[in-house]
Amino acid sequence: MSGLTEEQRRLVDDLARRLRAARDPMALTGAGVSTESGIPDFRSAESGIWREHDPMEVASLEGFRREPRRFYTFWEPRFGKLGEARPNAAHRVLAALERAGMLSGVVTQNIDGLHGVAGSERVLEVHGSYRQARCLRCGRVESLEAVTERVRQGRLPICEDCGELMKPDVVLFGEQLPPVFAEATRLARQTDLLVVLGSSLGVHPVAGLVPEAHEAGAAVVLINREPSPYDEMADVVIHGELGPVSRALAERLGFELAD
Ligand code: APR
Repeated sequence: MSGLTEEQRRLVDDLARRLRAARDPMALTGAGVSTESGIPDFRSAESGIWREHDPMEVASLEGFRREPRRFYTFWEPRFGKLGEARPNAAHRVLAALERAGMLSGVVTQNIDGLHGVAGSERVLEVHGSYRQARCLRCGRVESLEAVTERVRQGRLPICEDCGELMKPDVVLFGEQLPPVFAEATRLARQTDLLVVLGSSLGVHPVAGLVPEAHEAGAAVVLINREPSPYDEMADVVIHGELGPVSRALAERLGFELAD
């Protein structure tokens, strides 16, 4: 298993054993699973988006209502890149685990849709998805591209039914999470193995799924480049790069990570 230390290889073996033995394992992912697909995360020291931009300006409901057009022009190039991104080994090993009946679902904070592109079927997008925009009043849904086109033409992104603002269907700071979060909480309470990949676990309520699963008796495995507030609570912590760890896990479990 190339690129791993002896310690990381041992921990990957332990994770493989736990996945084989688990009754109802689940995964929780963050932006760290998509960086190797070319999508920057939020809090990495050098490249995280929040290192250069204030999330309260460009990712809060209040900021959106205040300057909706600026919101679209800030996110348009980033959302545009999401459409070109391809899944990497981390997405593919989770899809392979689900196909092998060794993962009941992926709860993801990511809006890039790459788990679905990689073949994962049960994906709970608890922070929404970049593909569409939704009216803040009547709930009308349109493709994000259609609404962004109106902004490009200098028009306000308003609903063609009721005239209220159309907002990208991603959860902004200060917003409630979508109903799918209740299902994610149910999964966390019934799982016996929660594997967290690529999240700093600093944003609630999603980060709260880790103690929730732990208190319900699940084993917790964290895979991340940097420490998280839940490292102490976890049963296994693999500090490392998700690409090599995912490829090593796939090899250990006999999965072919088709491109
Ligand atoms: N391998 C391993 N770890 C990685 C890799 C990688 N290739 N790339 C990044 N990481 C780690 C970073 O070190 C970081 O700890 O992934 C973590 C990503 O953390 P964040 O950038 O905070 O992303 P996330 O946890 O998903 O943020 C949660 O915050 O801003 C909101 O809504 C946004 O969904 C997001 C939420």
